[in-house]
Amino acid sequence: MSTTSYLSNRINNLSESATLKMTKLGRELAAKGINVISLSVGEPDFNTPDNVKQAAKTALDENYTRYSPVPGYPELRQAIVDKLKNENGLDFETSQIVVSTGAKQSLSNVILTLINPGDEVIIPTPYWVSYSEMVVLAEGKSVFINADIESDFKITPEQLEAAITPKTKLFMFSSPCNPTGSVYSKAELAELAKVFEKHPNIFILSDEIYEHINFIDKHESIAQFNSIKDRVIIVNGFSKAFAMTGWRLGYIAANKEIASANDKLQGQTTSGTCSISQRAGIVAYNEGLAGVQKMKEAFLRRRQLVFDLLNDIPGVKTNLPEGAFYFFPEVSSFFGKKDLNGNVINGSEELALYLLNEGHIATVGGNSFGNDNYIRLSYAASDENLKEALRRMKEALSKLS
Ligand SMILES: Cc1ncc(COP(=O)(O)O)c(C=O)c1O
Repeated sequence: MSTTSYLSNRINNLSESATLKMTKLGRELAAKGINVISLSVGEPDFNTPDNVKQAAKTALDENYTRYSPVPGYPELRQAIVDKLKNENGLDFETSQIVVSTGAKQSLSNVILTLINPGDEVIIPTPYWVSYSEMVVLAEGKSVFINADIESDFKITPEQLEAAITPKTKLFMFSSPCNPTGSVYSKAELAELAKVFEKHPNIFILSDEIYEHINFIDKHESIAQFNSIKDRVIIVNGFSKAFAMTGWRLGYIAANKEIASANDKLQGQTTSGTCSISQRAGIVAYNEGLAGVQKMKEAFLRRRQLVFDLLNDIPGVKTNLPEGAFYFFPEVSSFFGKKDLNGNVINGSEELALYLLNEGHIATVGGNSFGNDNYIRLSYAASDENLKEALRRMKEALSKLS
């Protein structure tokens, strides 16, 4: 019996999260006393704002320590409704909001709620690592549309139209995007919405978790187009905007049927998310975005820093991302080259491992995001660490021959 033979096909067919894997390898090297700079994780290097932390302490004192309603406390769902109205101009009712244990759970819930075995899910590449694996879990079929650096990693309406078949059930994307930082403009979203108008059976899963880390204009949601709004499921959360990755707080805003289906699924799996996190979330949304603004300014400065340093590395090609906190540079010119031990670098994962072992910087190969010609760097790190990481990267890459 092989060691995995008793595990389900479902789990055997699932890949490990590449971002978490690289982070783990980086931590293992660090535990050996090596100074590893991590550019592999997708979390702000800031602390949760004080008013939000205080709200959690108050929640404990007030004994918010019991099961919450499965879709979240009414006050939190109301705060989310207010946010969607005030910041995004979108009308929702509290019955359309389901709070979850992070945007990740919401994405998984929505896919399990909508996808039957064999249903097709269109995913533009590069995409966030977990999308395609969540589709695997639901026994759906991912259909990828390739977008590369030349199109700023964005798809065209023609590409979308060409990918649609009678089996297409869902389209899922993130804007601002992880891993590319690309942001769809209102005009670009309007073009995609026109395609969906022609296909009334397709749902649109709009992952807006990086909404507040956007360096151009204001955030635009594809849910603003009334002709398709009822088929758009917005996924969002508190992890990135409020530096609350550990609190596990996310949500969907969707039509009532989808919302109550998500409520039912959560009711049989995780129940409502952490009561204390929810009370803190109410304060995060009701007391504004001052902390977010400070974080955004730092990200903007670091974006320029990393952009300049990447452009200074021969063989690396990059664009200037308009949101999130990632670069997704093209690195295929290094494939086929050899490291100092004569090992050939065959793809992005091997290049990321080389950068970890030789340069002691943790990045993630683009293959896990659907395009092997790239690697992902997170610039959620201090200016000093970014400068040193990019210096090491340049030096390590120059040793390949
Ligand atoms: C595009 C995208 N969606 C969703 C998530 C998950 O966020 P959460 O921490 O709310 O589960 C992440 C986290 O890295 C992400 O990058």
